[in-house]
Parts: sequence; C-alpha cells; structure tokens
Amino acid sequence: MSDKLIIFDTTLRDGEQSPGASMTKDEKVRIAKALEKLRVDIIEAGFPIASVGDFEAVQAVANTIKDSTICGLARALDKDIDRAAEALKKANSARIHTFLATSPLHMQMKLRMSPDEVLTQAVHAVKRARQYTDNVEFSPEDAGRSEIDFLCRVIEAVIDAGANTINIPDTVGYKLPERFGRLIATLRERIPNSDKAIFSVHCHNDLGLAVANSLAAVLNGARQVECTINGLGERAGNASLEEVVMAVRTRKDVFSCQMDIDTTQIVPCSRLVSGITGFPVQPNKAIVGANAFAHESGIHQDGVLKNRETYEIMKAEDVGWNENRMVLGKHSGRNAFKDRLQQLGIVLSSEEELNAAFSRFKELADKKHEIYDDDLQAIVTDTLAVEKEKVKLIALKVCSETGEKPYAQITLNLDGQEKSGHAEGSGPVDATFKAIESIVYSQSHLLVYSVNNVTNGTDSQGEVGVRLEREGRIVNGQGADTDIVVASAKAYLNAINKITNVMERKHPQAPSPV
Ligand code: KIV
Ligand code: ZN
Repeated sequence: MSDKLIIFDTTLRDGEQSPGASMTKDEKVRIAKALEKLRVDIIEAGFPIASVGDFEAVQAVANTIKDSTICGLARALDKDIDRAAEALKKANSARIHTFLATSPLHMQMKLRMSPDEVLTQAVHAVKRARQYTDNVEFSPEDAGRSEIDFLCRVIEAVIDAGANTINIPDTVGYKLPERFGRLIATLRERIPNSDKAIFSVHCHNDLGLAVANSLAAVLNGARQVECTINGLGERAGNASLEEVVMAVRTRKDVFSCQMDIDTTQIVPCSRLVSGITGFPVQPNKAIVGANAFAHESGIHQDGVLKNRETYEIMKAEDVGWNENRMVLGKHSGRNAFKDRLQQLGIVLSSEEELNAAFSRFKELADKKHEIYDDDLQAIVTDTLAVEKEKVKLIALKVCSETGEKPYAQITLNLDGQEKSGHAEGSGPVDATFKAIESIVYSQSHLLVYSVNNVTNGTDSQGEVGVRLEREGRIVNGQGADTDIVVASAKAYLNAINKITNVMERKHPQAPSPV
C-alpha cells in the first residue's frame, strides 16, 4: 500500500453547496490558487452541468492551475460527464468524479431504480468518463448506509470498468469511527480487484465525526481524504482539511503516511475562504480559530513560557499564524501593492481591476496607517465583487443622533441608471437597508447580520456579513470599510447581486434528473 495520503479538497464543490456559500468564477480561481500554494493534490472545482456560471468557473480553474489535479463532478449521466470533460479540457491534469447512490433508501426513493439498473448505469458512466481521461473516480453515494454485498459488487464492477479511485462517502454523516474504519478494511479485503484502485473517503459532519471517521478510514488503508477548508460543506459540513492534515502530521507515531501539504498556508487559506464565503470561523475552532493557540490561564501561560510543549502539541507558525504581516502604509506605491498581492497569490486579471483595488488601498491607507495582509485580502474581495455588480453603491448619507430617529439617504447605480431612496430605521444600519429596499424591492429576508474587525484597533476595517433568503435559496454578502454602516450597505448590495445568480443553479444531489 502506498505511503502517500492524497489530499482532495472539495471546498469549491461540496463547500459551495453550503447554503449561502456560492462563489463567483473569480473568487473560485482565487481560492484555487491558494489551494495550489497549500499544495493540495486534487481540487474539486465544481459541478459543471449545474449552470453556465459553474461550467465557466471549473473551466477557469482548470485553465489556471498547473500543480494540482483539477476535478469536475458529474452524476452518472452522459450529459454530465461530457460537460465535465469539456470544462476540464485544458487542465494540466484532470479527473472526472462520477457518482450514483447505492443505498436502498436512495435507490428506491430518490432514483427509483433497481440495484441491477444502478450497477449497469455506474459501469456505463465510468466507461464514458474513461473515454476522456484515465483519471476517473467513482462514488457510491450514501455508501455509509448501503448493503455491503451490493456495495462490493458495484465497486468491483466499476474498478473493472476503469475507475482508479473509489470514494466511500458517508453522505449523511451517520457512521461512527470504529465501524467506518472497519467498512474500509472489509471493502479492501473482500473486493478481488481492490488493489487496482485507491480507496478514498468523504465524510459529512452531521454528528461531529467527519474528521474522526476520515482518520479511522486512513488507519484502515484509505489513501485519499476528501475535505474542505474550515470544514465548509453541505449541512454541518465536511471533514475539515486543516484538522485531518494536522492530526496526521502531529501523530506520525500512529499514521504511517506522508502528505505534500505546505502547512504554513493553512491559516491564510482559511481566512481567504472565510472572507470570500462570509462564513466566519468560530474562535475555538481547532487549528484556525482565533483562540486555537491562545492561553488565557496563568498556569498555562507560565508553562508555555518555560517550555512550549507543556500545553502545545503544534507550533502556531507551522500552520501559518504569523503570516498576517504589516506590509504596507500610506506611502507605499502601486508596484509595492502589486508585488504584495502577487506574494499572496492574487493576480488581478486586468489593469482596471488593479487600478480599482489600488485606489481602494489608497483610500484605506489615508484612514488607517498600517495595512496588513488581511486588509489586502478584504480590499480585493470587495473591489472584485463591486466591479461585476449590477447594483452598486454611489453615495450614502446617514444621520444618527441621540433622541432622533436614524435616517439614511442612498444613491445606487442600478444597471447603469442612478436611483435614490431614503428611509428611517431603528438604527443607522436598519435605515440603510430599508433605503436600499425602497429602490431594489428584492423580496428577500434578512437572516443574519454580523460585523467583525479585519485587524486589531478601532481604526480597523469592519467586515460585515449579510445573509439573505428568497424562495428557500440563501446567499451571503460581504462588505468591508472602516465605516461599518458603509460596509453594511456594501454587504447588503453584494447579497442582492448574488441572489439572482443562485436562483438559476442546479444541485448535484437533487432528487429528479435535471
Ligand atoms: O456527500 C456525498 O455523497 C457527495 C458525493 C457527490 C460524493 O458529496
Ligand atoms: Zn458530500
């Protein structure tokens, strides 16, 4: 068995299925570049048949990334596989990942197919994918609740048909570590041609066991783990990449496999994903939470000062905690700005984008003396989002005074036309959102509103997250500014701009054929 543990990142696919986490093409490319820097082996870039936007995003990632293999998801349908192959055409190294459910519940209720029909379709799909690439992965969806004999039959048949990675998904996060580990061992023992494929796992976190289940599988011979940055993903999410990687690395005494991950890129990657998707990282989250390496108790602090290993099993700098450097200031020029963006793996696609980002930087540097990497990431996220938006903020005036009702007056650019509106509200943010709605009539509901500081100090940019819902579809919008009311307006508009695109997308695990 190989000693290499393949890290397959699905932040851009399963992560994006998290309600509200949809990303634009440019945002996906930016995250893909960060994942390449992190040296993940495989990037699952999306589900190309879902929409034109999804297709173009997978294509853009495939055309840009050179070092990681790019994977596209396809149901076991010819049209899905052909579309995935088309999107991946220019990739340096491409994989098609096709899947079909094998649990009795999914076959009967969702697919309305017999087990024999499922087996035939799975084999057909793998053969079709092999016409495009010799790198084909097959997933028996809901494997965690499938009958073992049938699972073995399907896997043996798809390996014969040419699948060289067999991914075992615990689609609903139902498994327990010991049993899931045993399932992997049993499949490898019982399937006669199991040595012709790499066994992979894809665990969901509904019982908070996604990482534990993935690690149990590795101990039983799985050599690929599918995971996401910050554990983003459908419902309670997927196994978190940073936790899987650091567990395997920290406990070399237990895991006999090696990975190619550059762990110092973990925290920058986590921040980027959180900034782009608007999903904050909880402070006590392992590895990437703000408190993951903070010691509050005097006894702990004393211990760590005498010998760090008394209370720490990993070094903060090994996962990239010191990366957020103060980099630029008021007098930094355009070249220094461009240089630092390049070092962060951000290449803007046109001079106009660079100019827009640089003028945002200058505006910020006038208000805030020290500009950190996190500020630059926020500036770029914000500038790129605004560039493509159909509804843009032109001006905002807010009056807020003790004893008076807060009032907001706003001017927007609506598809090229200037429109103004005003409203009162219970506070300045409420008034601002109402003023926006008086112009756009979005018919959406505000689910979440949050404000976080990008860096320390009261001169920090405020990063606002807004979650909106319309007809069951959810989007997250972000906006950053040193003025949090302006940041709030930007975040609200960002969400409004996203909601129309999201309404048009298909879901890979939707019950009926699309
Ligand atoms: O959770 C799941 O089963 C999936 C498959 C498409 C692999 O995401
Ligand atoms: Zn999944």
